[in-house]
Amino acid sequence: MQATILVTGGTGFIGSHTAAVLQQAGYRVLILDNLCNSAAGVLDAIAAITGIRPDFVQGDVRDAPLLDSVFASHPIAAVLHFAGLKAVGESTTMPLAYYDNNVHGSVQLLQAMQRAGVRTLVFSSSATVYGDPQKLPLTEDHPRSATNPYGHTKLVVEDILENLYNSQPDWRIARLRYFNPVGAHPSGLMGEAPQGTPNNLMPFVAQVAVGQRDSVKVFGNDYDTPDGTGVRDYIHVMDLAEGHAHALKYCLNAAQDLLTVNLGTGVGYSVLDMIHAFEQASGKAVAYDIVGRRPGDIAACWADTELAFQKLGWRAQKSIQDMCDDAWRWEMHRAAL
Ligand code: NAD
Ligand code: UFG
Repeated sequence: MQATILVTGGTGFIGSHTAAVLQQAGYRVLILDNLCNSAAGVLDAIAAITGIRPDFVQGDVRDAPLLDSVFASHPIAAVLHFAGLKAVGESTTMPLAYYDNNVHGSVQLLQAMQRAGVRTLVFSSSATVYGDPQKLPLTEDHPRSATNPYGHTKLVVEDILENLYNSQPDWRIARLRYFNPVGAHPSGLMGEAPQGTPNNLMPFVAQVAVGQRDSVKVFGNDYDTPDGTGVRDYIHVMDLAEGHAHALKYCLNAAQDLLTVNLGTGVGYSVLDMIHAFEQASGKAVAYDIVGRRPGDIAACWADTELAFQKLGWRAQKSIQDMCDDAWRWEMHRAAL
């Protein structure tokens, strides 16, 4: 039987693009997702793009009996663990839901992996674990801190994985710290589909360009950055998906390891840079208003990408124009659905 990769949260934004890339690389993919922030229609998009419909189980990573039956009925070689809640603001109003989903969910998954003898894991961490950067670019040895419950769940799971690895070094684990994933599949068939008002910049910009919202609120223009607006390391979701394929291969080929790497581009762009790039891609004016800073935001953040290149032989390839072109193609497709 062909080895299967279990992708938790695989109908979500990053998981779905990664599932498509893995299928195109020849892996068999099994998605486990409870659809709390995604829709099963994504499976049709993956099938249209790759010619293969991934296996799908609708269920929760906190459901231990379900996990046991999934591991018992498929030859799972490795797990990519994307499932979790990710809205920073929401995490401050419902912290228990975040600890339950992200921490308890990860522990349930790891215990099920132990029971099944599967010890290869790629985990979705975040640049949020660096807190307010003391120096840029951010290297993986930068001190970690959390300013909100969401960030704290990522810190805790990173630590759990380290403790686990120290206790049983035959695990092969990659902790991937994503910077700001944006863009969509170049086919326009798959992309980010936030429910309600988007929290993140780029989905909001796309909705203004398509006419669904009036203007973008730019959170502060008095930061110590070239144009005063916040600077981030935006990475195309397809580059991120390729990074996962490299990390998976690395883990499958390792005897044992606990790898921690940034997945970013190494380049920072401001909020205004991104708005202007989107205007160019869409041919639409994107109205914006400068408002006060958003509490908890940092001025600037971008990755040091050398370790990822050294360890995985991977570098991001796509430009901000690619990110905006593909996001716009997806927005047009979504508007027509
Ligand atoms: P997403 O919300 O689009 O995808 C997460 C998926 O997990 C969704 O399909 C959701 O339905 C599912 N899910 C949530 N809880 C679950 C549970 N208990 N059991 C089963 N399925 C569950 O988010 P995304 O942007 O694709 O993020 C994927 C991962 O990457 C998350 O862990 C997130 O914290 C992390 N991450 C995201 C970003 C970002 O900016 N998008 C940045 C850094 C890290
Ligand atoms: N911004 C606006 N207006 C908006 C939304 C955002 O001006 O409507 C600004 C923010 O102030 C920031 C930049 O756009 O300067 C990016 O903000 P996002 O909300 O898109 O992203 P963040 O950098 O705040 O955080 C994201 C994810 C986190 C993750 C982090 C990793 O939301 O979960 O990237 O770097 F941890």
